[in-house]
Amino acid sequence: MKNNKNIYIETYGCQMNISDSEIVASILTNNGYHYTEDVLLADIIFVNTCSIRENAEDRVRKRLHYFKSLRKKNPGLVIGLLGCMADRTKTALMEEEQLLDLVAGPDSYRHLPQLLEQVGTGRRAIDTILSVDETYADITPVRLDSNGVSAFISIMRGCENYCSYCVVPSTRGQERSRDATTIVRETRDLFEKGYREITLLGQNVNSYSWKDADRIISFPDLLEQVAAVNPLMRIRFATSHPKDISNDLLQTIARNHNLCKAIHLPVQSGSNHMLDLMNRKYTREDYMERIEAIRNIIPGCAISTDIIAGFCDETVEDHRDTLSLMEWVGYDAAYMFKYSERPQTLAADTLADNIPEEVKDGRLREIIDLQQELSLASNKKEIGKTYEILVEGKSKRSDSQYFGRNSQNKVAVFTKTLSGPGEYVMVRITGVTSATLLGEVV
Ligand code: 5AD
Ligand code: SF4
Repeated sequence: MKNNKNIYIETYGCQMNISDSEIVASILTNNGYHYTEDVLLADIIFVNTCSIRENAEDRVRKRLHYFKSLRKKNPGLVIGLLGCMADRTKTALMEEEQLLDLVAGPDSYRHLPQLLEQVGTGRRAIDTILSVDETYADITPVRLDSNGVSAFISIMRGCENYCSYCVVPSTRGQERSRDATTIVRETRDLFEKGYREITLLGQNVNSYSWKDADRIISFPDLLEQVAAVNPLMRIRFATSHPKDISNDLLQTIARNHNLCKAIHLPVQSGSNHMLDLMNRKYTREDYMERIEAIRNIIPGCAISTDIIAGFCDETVEDHRDTLSLMEWVGYDAAYMFKYSERPQTLAADTLADNIPEEVKDGRLREIIDLQQELSLASNKKEIGKTYEILVEGKSKRSDSQYFGRNSQNKVAVFTKTLSGPGEYVMVRITGVTSATLLGEVV
């Protein structure tokens, strides 16, 4: 089956895309291709793309021009585009700019071997049809760029929430859940290979639902099953939608030591007017109620979020509502973006992208500065506490130090011990920055 062809995959965007690249690597290595980490050794280059914000698309375009330049030395080089940008940009990138030989959308990866054969016969290949049931459930991903300790497991695909700013429902299609038995099997397999932390991935994991022979498995049911694989396997998940995060889920997390005490709950804005225009289906008050539920049911749980600055019609008051909500929650961490209009979204079709760039920039700056303060304040509270840290590897700054994470997903750096990557150590926190805890093993 071996065909001596080297494939190289470059991934942009979210964790889901990293997980998809691992599925692509698995499909192709099972079909005789060899995976390389060196682009200059590649016979085939795949770029797994993200459409979520415009700057992500711009970066991909620049990279494709660089890859095209490699064809001068390697005329047979095949360049393929995967993922969220596939359907939308295929004509421009393939026909007009001659950058691509192959385009495959997020549900077409099983066809890559045939698509590559088609390219081998001198024809370009395109497959961007979205599916209603593809979950790649039976495919064991090849772990790329792995630390051997933590891995992603994709549990569902697509999204049907139609937040008005978001391109995902159009690029990734209908929501579908993956067979729970294959998720549990993949977790067990990873544990046996030495992994100690998995992150279950979906656009809205709270709506996970799988019909087993005799019952429906909900997301809390799935978490219980995965947690039972081994108490030493830590479980995280992303992303939760505030409208769907139930007390049942929170109680499940509180009950199981190895379900991590960290919840990522994207708020997007603190203003009810913005939340309405964003089609988020909850109010500021609903969101605050859910935060209180988290604080009551899982004491000590870390909370992180996503925020968009400068959405359509956003006033100074709307922006202040976001800042005040951030302070009220006291987020431990946040991913912060300025609004970027995406084609084929509700907002692009019905709302005006009417906040000037410099205003968006200014508001984003204020949000980032505030989060910096909140992260530092949150970390300062950790001084003197002792945490169970899963060691991930050597610290980047010093060979004599390790780094790892606590259940709350905070990174800690501490002096090396006999216990190495994949093992748990107890660390007392002695100092902090806004990004890291510093500590000593006890
Ligand atoms: N502009 C800016 N940010 C966006 N996000 C999604 N779509 C857009 C957009 N058009 C952000 C949201 C989401 C995160 C993954 O990306 O905050 O939660
Ligand atoms: Fe986009 Fe909203 Fe779906 Fe998240 S939940 S992927 S923001 S549409």
